[in-house]
Amino acid sequence: MSAAAKVTEKQISMDGESQMETNWRPDSWKKCIATQQADYPDPEALDRALESLASLPPLVTSWEILSLKSQIAEAQRGERFVLQGGDCAESFADCNSPIITNRLKVLLQMSLALVHGLQMPVVRIGRFAGQYAKPRSSAMETRDGTTLPSYRGDIVNSPEFTEAARRPDPDRLLQAHSRSALTMNFVRGLIDGGFADLHHPEYWDLAWVAHSPLAEEFRTLAEGLGRSIRFMETISGQRAGSVKRVDFYTSHEALHLHYEQALTRQVPRQEGWFNLSTHFPWIGMRTADLEDAHVEYFRGIRNPIGIKVGPSVSPGELTDLIDRLNPNREWGRMVLIHRMGAAGIGEHLPPLIEAVQKAETPVLWICDPMHGNTETVASGIKTRRFRNIMSEVEQAIEVHRSLGSRLGGVHLELTGENVTECTGGARDLSEKDLERAYKSTVDPRLNYEQALELAMFIVRKYPQAPDQ
Ligand code: PEP
Ligand code: CO
Repeated sequence: MSAAAKVTEKQISMDGESQMETNWRPDSWKKCIATQQADYPDPEALDRALESLASLPPLVTSWEILSLKSQIAEAQRGERFVLQGGDCAESFADCNSPIITNRLKVLLQMSLALVHGLQMPVVRIGRFAGQYAKPRSSAMETRDGTTLPSYRGDIVNSPEFTEAARRPDPDRLLQAHSRSALTMNFVRGLIDGGFADLHHPEYWDLAWVAHSPLAEEFRTLAEGLGRSIRFMETISGQRAGSVKRVDFYTSHEALHLHYEQALTRQVPRQEGWFNLSTHFPWIGMRTADLEDAHVEYFRGIRNPIGIKVGPSVSPGELTDLIDRLNPNREWGRMVLIHRMGAAGIGEHLPPLIEAVQKAETPVLWICDPMHGNTETVASGIKTRRFRNIMSEVEQAIEVHRSLGSRLGGVHLELTGENVTECTGGARDLSEKDLERAYKSTVDPRLNYEQALELAMFIVRKYPQAPDQ
């Protein structure tokens, strides 16, 4: 542990929570060990970029953040289901109209299948408009005797294996902010303009899946819903206004602490600090130790927050983290995103659920069935088997149910593009298919059919309300 981390711990034990709160500043994370950060060769250029960033408008508002928090509180009470999904990493090049609309279409189709099948409102959270920073298992990468800094996401450097591309460039922080703003602006425009209007589910058709049996199944479901809505409208003589738009929230792994700090702001008539770069930041598995700089940063912001919980976390570590991040046991604040792998969830999840139940603190449990199921096939390609993804979700539903807890949502990596990155699913993609349309520079994503199939699978496996 660093001297700085020791100081923090000493202050906490001397003065308790109130001291912790007053000691927090948007930059107090700098006293702790910050892992997974880029090493910028020109610190002055970094300072200049951060200064510009801090003067730019934020990407979201505190009102939106608080409304998401109250929706998460409802989900914690069992009244909503959370669908969080998007790319493993966004790229600057993919900030374009077709990619953004296709991803939105998949998320809207999945959420409609879930709303209809689970008979409860869904909280829609994209992994987009800021998902530009990636944790890496090693700071450097060596190829054919040449060693360069690892690719850390477009917010830091570029994936090509050249010295220039891999050099961390502070101007990318500003580019990440503007690409996030462009994405946000377009998503808001689409949603407010009627793209999510249930009277027109045909807006969400993806051209390239016209002949998929799943697209057909979805169309039948959407048409049935459309007919019910028109029927209600005819009977009541009123247009059903609330089906015209939906709430859509953004999220990303708040990994790059300089960037997050520059967008952490106070707002008039609200207490405390908000991270206004996104509605829902989460802490990745590799940076979620109690004394980590990321935990120090997260404890002071008022957003609802996620923590990735992997198989190595002990029950005591998890409850300590929750105490640190939500000492007042606020509803809507904590989302635990477990990612154990299909082979490990049965062993690792139950003790964690029991410890949190004993602590009597409100949390929402959601399952990330992607990151514990990544494997590398003989050809060297990273993939995930659809059957393992389904199995982890199914086990998650069952483990929670058997302990009197509840799986409140899923966290997925998916895309609206026609990719072949995960094997299996309706078209039974094989290892050979991976070579055909593998576009991800980081983790393999579900394609449209696999994503929709998973939503329908969740509906089939989810415990139904007693009166259904
Ligand atoms: C991710 O969500 O892309 C990720 C890196 O996950 P984790 O921190 O759970 O490994
Ligand atoms: Co990933």
